[in-house]
Amino acid sequence: MTVATGGLDGVVAAKTVMSHVDGEAGRLIVRGYDLGDLADRFTFEELLGVLWDGFVDIRPDSIRADLGEARMEAFGILQTCLPLPSNLSAVEQLRFLLSALPDHTLEERQALLAVAAVPVFTAAVLRLRTGRSAIAPDARLNHATDFLRMLRNEPIPDHDSEALDTYLVTVADHGLNASTFAARIIASTQAGLFSAVVGGLCALKGPLHGGAPGPVLDMLDAIGRPENAKTWLTEAVAQGERLMGFGHRIYRVRDPRADVLKAVAKRLKNDTNRIQLAEEIEAAALCVLADQKKGLTLETNVEFYTALVLEALRLPRESFTLIFAMGRVAGWTAHILEQLDGGRIIRPQSDYVGPMPQVAGTA
Ligand code: ACO
Repeated sequence: MTVATGGLDGVVAAKTVMSHVDGEAGRLIVRGYDLGDLADRFTFEELLGVLWDGFVDIRPDSIRADLGEARMEAFGILQTCLPLPSNLSAVEQLRFLLSALPDHTLEERQALLAVAAVPVFTAAVLRLRTGRSAIAPDARLNHATDFLRMLRNEPIPDHDSEALDTYLVTVADHGLNASTFAARIIASTQAGLFSAVVGGLCALKGPLHGGAPGPVLDMLDAIGRPENAKTWLTEAVAQGERLMGFGHRIYRVRDPRADVLKAVAKRLKNDTNRIQLAEEIEAAALCVLADQKKGLTLETNVEFYTALVLEALRLPRESFTLIFAMGRVAGWTAHILEQLDGGRIIRPQSDYVGPMPQVAGTA
């Protein structure tokens, strides 16, 4: 029996046609397309067609309209769940709402509803938390624009919806990351697509995975000025803290998504000082990590510039993990559908290192 390390490093746990992460080359391939092409070539709705191809009975050219209808359906379900429990954080409120989706309908309708529900619920959660009422979807709009409109209740400039769309495409799928693996395990028991999506969200919410971008901005604020960066970062790492937005299990070089999102942040951000501060802190962090974590290759990951993009879109920090889920639910549903298409229950073994029962009369 081969015993894996605690974090399953290097273990191949599934065959997939969805995506490949080449950590040495810093390359992400999604269904045959390099990340750069993906972001240039497809809208989020088109990417859903690419990801779901061969696994659902939906025409790619009807996905945008079908998704619009599914957002309306999700808004109806939302009404049955109000008021939201007020003791929960924003991401926990999203988890609560997703739990209300019934696991017993056709899988492709579920995949649409899961993708549609995340922005509808997220916009509602963010508005309700600030004493405003939820706004109904507009099925004619594209997904990114409709989310921003449901949140802001105003017409959305093209540059904002294009930036969010690029973000959603960029983070839609990424191999067997922790949340996708969690979703696949749940799907493999045939528990149902929504249960698997809820499981994906539960894994995503941790700060070591999708919870990092809010703390990235906290770090930028705490550092405040470029000249403070080296001392602040050195002390943080010396105290055993992890610098949010750096390090990755697979990438040994810079995460390619970081550059796509940095370009988006630069296009969006009027406040060039903020980007400059981020760049200087990034450079200082890479030096501090190289110096204090010798032998490890800790590079910038997707979350660093995610934080800058979402901030430039005027999204509150508590929403960042929910917006990540808006993109990643595309990958979760695709992997769930692939898992259901002939996959076996995922059931590894453990290596028991506890005591054995005493044989009677020997103690
Ligand atoms: N800052 C400081 N030290 C770090 C960092 C970091 N960001 N990342 C890893 N390390 C150190 C660890 O302390 C450890 O050092 P040690 O051996 O001296 O204790 C060493 O690098 C190896 O760490 P592991 O935990 O084994 O690395 P792993 O591959 O398990 O973790 C992870 C990857 C969770 C992403 C890690 O790099 C991290 O915590 N980063 C910060 C959080 C973050 O940005 N998460 C988002 C990741 S991208 C995504 O999920 C979408």
